[in-house]
This record gives sequence, structure tokens and C-alpha cells, in this order.
Amino acid sequence: MASRFSLLFLTSLFIATSFRSSAADDTDVTSGVDGGDLLIRQVVDHGGDDFVGENSLLNADHHFSIFKRKFGKAYATQEEHDRRFSVFKANLRRARRHQKLDPSAVHGVTQFSDLTPREFKRQFLGVNRKLRLPSDAQKAPILPTNDLPKDFDWRDHGAVTPVKNQGSCGSCWSFSTTGALEGANFLATGNLESLSEQQLVDCDHECDPEEKGSCDSGCSGGLMNSALEYTLKAGGLMREEDYPYTGTDRGACKFDKNKIAAKVANFSVVSLDEEQIAANLVKNGPLAVAINAVFMQTYIGGVSCPFICSKRLDHGVLLVGYGEAGYSPIRLKEKPYWIIKNSWGEKWGEKGYYKICRGPNVCGVDSLVSTVAAASTSQ
Ligand SMILES: *[C@@H]1O[C@H](CO)[C@@H](O)[C@H](O)[C@H]1NC(C)=O
Repeated sequence: MASRFSLLFLTSLFIATSFRSSAADDTDVTSGVDGGDLLIRQVVDHGGDDFVGENSLLNADHHFSIFKRKFGKAYATQEEHDRRFSVFKANLRRARRHQKLDPSAVHGVTQFSDLTPREFKRQFLGVNRKLRLPSDAQKAPILPTNDLPKDFDWRDHGAVTPVKNQGSCGSCWSFSTTGALEGANFLATGNLESLSEQQLVDCDHECDPEEKGSCDSGCSGGLMNSALEYTLKAGGLMREEDYPYTGTDRGACKFDKNKIAAKVANFSVVSLDEEQIAANLVKNGPLAVAINAVFMQTYIGGVSCPFICSKRLDHGVLLVGYGEAGYSPIRLKEKPYWIIKNSWGEKWGEKGYYKICRGPNVCGVDSLVSTVAAASTSQ
């Protein structure tokens, strides 16, 4: 899978525009699936403040008040307030569509609910340039897959730092990269160190040798494999506290070789095989993965398992575990899922986490998986 991977830019939120262009968005594809509207109504009617149920548009005022309070939103003028309210209502309708397409998750109001798709793109997405997997990408050796635990979560084993927040900067790729190295470094040294995304944002301009201009570029996107290549060449990453996150890419590189906290020994890509992904996760620590983030914009909780989801990769995240007993009221059975650490703060999703169902490469989550080993001698 490695060489001709035409990978799209991994920035943060590339949600609305790509989704709107798909016919699915305005079509009720759930009709006839799982019994159709009756069951959907059962799912969407059971309430919750963030939740977008049947009556949510009637209660839009109420939802907007809760939204403003919860996310500390304040608007300068009445005009701005009114404009945000109408955007908010449009996003309620969009969340309703997502709810129908993805009934085993809960979709509704998130901190992004007062932004239009265009604003989203401008604030959270950079220039959309193509990035490919580096042609020299190593493939991970095939691991045995018998005896894998039924459930596994690296958070239970101390390999995962608290959820971080990338802010209005398309730097998801740097958070995915630090997360993978934080885990690998924990396995190699026994110490959990939070590592610096800002070092990657400021200093990593690693390019694809085969495609001119495809380089890691701060808030305008990047690729985890390139960032691991940079980290290998640079010697390592500094601690978060020694090189804190600013959320902008206008500063100079302040990398100090004498303050390296974690080093890459090697890294490789895992084949498109869920058992191999699980085996690499359990053996080597959390994995840097790419995903299509369309459904993440309105995600509140549960196991996301959309009937239709693009495999176009636009977001970098961290795979930390997997499980089974998912929230799945429609099918009344357990739905195996991956546990994904995101970088949009703890107020998003399930305390900053996302659950996406396992199965046929849902939303592209199996397409680009990187595993990393850390050198055991962090200084
Ligand atoms: C990667 O590095 C680790 C730690 O040094 C080592 O145990 C492992 O064999 C290496 N893997 C490969 C594929 O070189």
C-alpha cells in the first residue's frame, strides 16, 4: 500500500465541504435499513442537552443558550449573535443528517456548531496540498495475531498523556506523531513524557522526495510519517514544557538538541489488516493513524459507524485501543470499535476521544497506520 498512496493533506477539520459534495448528505439512505424511520426515531428521541432529537429545531433557542454557556461563546454585537444563531440552526440540521447516517453514535452540538463550513475550512484547514507516504516507508513485520486480548486500552497501562488541543491550526499531524512517540518512549523507558508538537510545527519541513512541494508545513498540514522521519533525523523531540504549544506557525524553530526527551529508533507502516493493526498496537504502543473526519464534527459519543463515509484521509489522530461492548441500540448487539485519541480538547467527544467501529476500513481508519519504536536511551 505504501508507494502510490495519494494521501491528502492531513490538517484538522475538513468536514463540511467534502461532505456536502457527496450525494449522501441530503439523502435519507437509512430508509429501509434496519427498519428505517421508526427505529431512528427511537434512537434520536432519548434526549440529552447536546443531543439533536426530533424537536431540536423547535428548541433551537434553548440549545443555543446551552451551547454558549458550555463553550464560553460571547458575541460582540446583536447582529453577530443573530448570525451565529442562524449558522447554529443550520448545523443542527446537519447533525440530524449525521445522526441518521450514523445511528450507533450520538451526533449533535459541539464547540464547532456556530461556524459555517467555509469558516471551518478557513480557520481549521490550511492550503490543500497533496502529501504522499514517503517512498522509502518501511513496512512493519507481520506479527502473530493469536492470543490478542479481547479488549485493550493503552490508557489503562499509562502510555497515553492527557488530551491536548490543537486550536485553530491544522497541526493534527503533529499531535498524532507526538502521541505515538510518547507511547513508544513509555514502552522503551518506563517514563511517560508529554512531547512537543510545537517543535514539529516550527522545525519540521520534511518533504516527499518524489513530489516537489509536499512538505510538512505547520498549521497548513503535514503527514505523520514525514514527521517521524524529521524526528529521526533531528535526533528527537523536546518535552512539551520545554517547547510549549502556541497554535501558530509564525515563530522560528527553537529546537535545542541538548533538551531531547525522546528519540525515534525506527518506524514503519502497518499493512491494511485490522488484526495486524491490533497486534502492532498491543506490541508497540499507540499508533499514528489517519482518518476521514467528516462525522467527527458533530460527534458527541458512542461508536461511530456511518453507513457511508469517505475514505479520503484528512485528519491525523492516535489509535490507543479497541473494545467491543459498544453503544449500539439499533442492532442490539456488540459492535467492535477502535478507541481514538483526538486533539480537539477534552470537551469534544467522549472526553476528547472518539470510537469508530472496526470493519471494512471505516472512514479510511486502517489506510495509513504508523508504528514507531523509541530508543531506550532518552538522555
Ligand atoms: C526498531 O527498534 C527497536 C528498538 O531499538 C528494535 O527492538 C526493533 O527490532 C527495531 N525494528 C526494526 C524493524 O528495525
